[in-house]
Amino acid sequence: MSERTQVGIVGAGPAGLVLAHLLHLRGIESVVVELRERDYVEKRVRAGVLEQGTVDLLTEMGVGDRLAREGLVHEGLELRFGGRGHRIALSELTGGRAITIYGQQHVVRDLIEARQAIGAPLLFEVEDVRVGELDSERPSIAYRHGGERHELRCDFVAGCDGFHGVTRGAVPDGVLTQLEHEYPFAWLGILAEVPPSTDELIYCNHDRGFALHSLRSPELSRLYLQVDPDDDVERWPDERIWEELHTRFATDGGWTLNEGPIVEKAITPMRSFVVEPMQWGRLYLAGDAAHIVPPTGAKGLNLAVADVRVLADALAAWYESGDDAQLRDYSQRCLRRVWRVQHFSWWMTSMLHRVAGADSFEQRLQRAQLEYVCSSEAGARTLAENYVGIPD
Ligand code: APR
Ligand code: PHB
Repeated sequence: MSERTQVGIVGAGPAGLVLAHLLHLRGIESVVVELRERDYVEKRVRAGVLEQGTVDLLTEMGVGDRLAREGLVHEGLELRFGGRGHRIALSELTGGRAITIYGQQHVVRDLIEARQAIGAPLLFEVEDVRVGELDSERPSIAYRHGGERHELRCDFVAGCDGFHGVTRGAVPDGVLTQLEHEYPFAWLGILAEVPPSTDELIYCNHDRGFALHSLRSPELSRLYLQVDPDDDVERWPDERIWEELHTRFATDGGWTLNEGPIVEKAITPMRSFVVEPMQWGRLYLAGDAAHIVPPTGAKGLNLAVADVRVLADALAAWYESGDDAQLRDYSQRCLRRVWRVQHFSWWMTSMLHRVAGADSFEQRLQRAQLEYVCSSEAGARTLAENYVGIPD
C-alpha cells in the first residue's frame, strides 16, 4: 500500500511525539511509526526531570494539564559529600526558574492521548522499518503493519528512533562523524514504593561511589547507585541495594533513608555520543538518535524536546514560504545546545562519581570542585543555570 504524508516520523518517544504535535499545531500533517506496542512505551521507566523550558513548551502545546496537576516543582537540589549536604538554590540563582519532576513515560502517555484525541496517525508495532531516497524530494518510509507492507512517501523524514534506531544508519558511510566517550561506570536504578526521604533531589558523592535520591510522587522514590558497567542486577538483591544506599547517603547529622518494596530494578550504561551533522538530504535526526548524554545532568529528554522545537519551526518556515534557511541551519543550531549539555553532563558526572584507580591528587581535585560549587555563588550559579536549562 502506498501512502502520502508531509512529515514521516520514525519513533514515538518524546522526540517523535512532541514533533508530531508541534507540526499538527502548525497545520502540518505527519505519520508516526513506532516499533513497540503502546503499553510498552507508556510504561518504560526512565528519567523524570523536566527543565523549565520543556514544561513551558508542553504547556503551550496544550498537553500540560496532568503535568501541572501531578508534576512536582523543585526549586533546589542537594549535593552531598563528606557526610554533609549542601543546598543549591536553583530558583534563587536563576531568576525564578525551576525544574519539574514528572516521569518521562507520563509525558509520553499524555502526548499519545493528545495524538489520539485529534485522530492523527500514530502506528504501534510496526516492523521492518526502512527509510529510503533520503536525498530526493520524496523520501520514503517502508514498513510492515498488521501483516501488510506499506510505503509512506513524505516531504521530510524525522529520525526520532532513539540510539538503537534505524534512521541514523541509513545515511551513507562517511557523511556523519560520530563522537563518543565511554565512562567506566553504570547506574543501577530502582523504583521503590516508599515516601521519598527527601523533598529535593540528592546527588551524593561517596568513596564507595555516586548515589542519587530522586522521586516520582509523594509515595514513590527513585534511587540510583553507581555500579560497574559489567555488573549484573542479579548480583543486587534488595537488601544489598538498601545497605549500599544507607552507606553512601549517611550523614554526620544522622539522616535516615526510608525503605520500601522495590518494584523496578535495572542497570543502565553511561555514555556520551554525538553525530555531526544531525541531518542528511531530507532526513533530520532528533533526540537520542543523534546524541546520548550520561544521566547525571538529567538532560536526555530535555535535549530531545529542544531539537524538535527547532525542527518544527524550520519545517513550518519551509511550508509557509519555501524558505529552507532554517532547515539548513538545523544541525548547527541544535549542536550548539547539544555540546553545552554534553559538557555539563560530563562535568556533573566527573564531579560526582568515584573513578576506580584515581590517585589521591585527582580525588582532592574532585573534592575541591565540589566545595567550590557549594561555597561560591558563581560556582553554584553555573550548576543551577545549566540544570534548569539555558534558554535559547
Ligand atoms: N522503527 C520505529 N521505531 C523505532 C525503531 C524503528 N526501527 N527503533 C526504535 N524505535 C522507537 C523506540 O521504540 C522508542 O519508542 O523509537 C523511540 C525512541 O524513543 P526514545 O528512545 O525515548 O528517544 P527520544 O524520543 O529521542 O527521547 C530521548 O529518551 O532515552 C531517553 O534519556 C533519553 O530522555 C531521553 C529520551
Ligand atoms: C530521575 O528521577 O530518574 C533522575 C533524576 C535526576 C537525574 C537522573 C534521573 O540526574
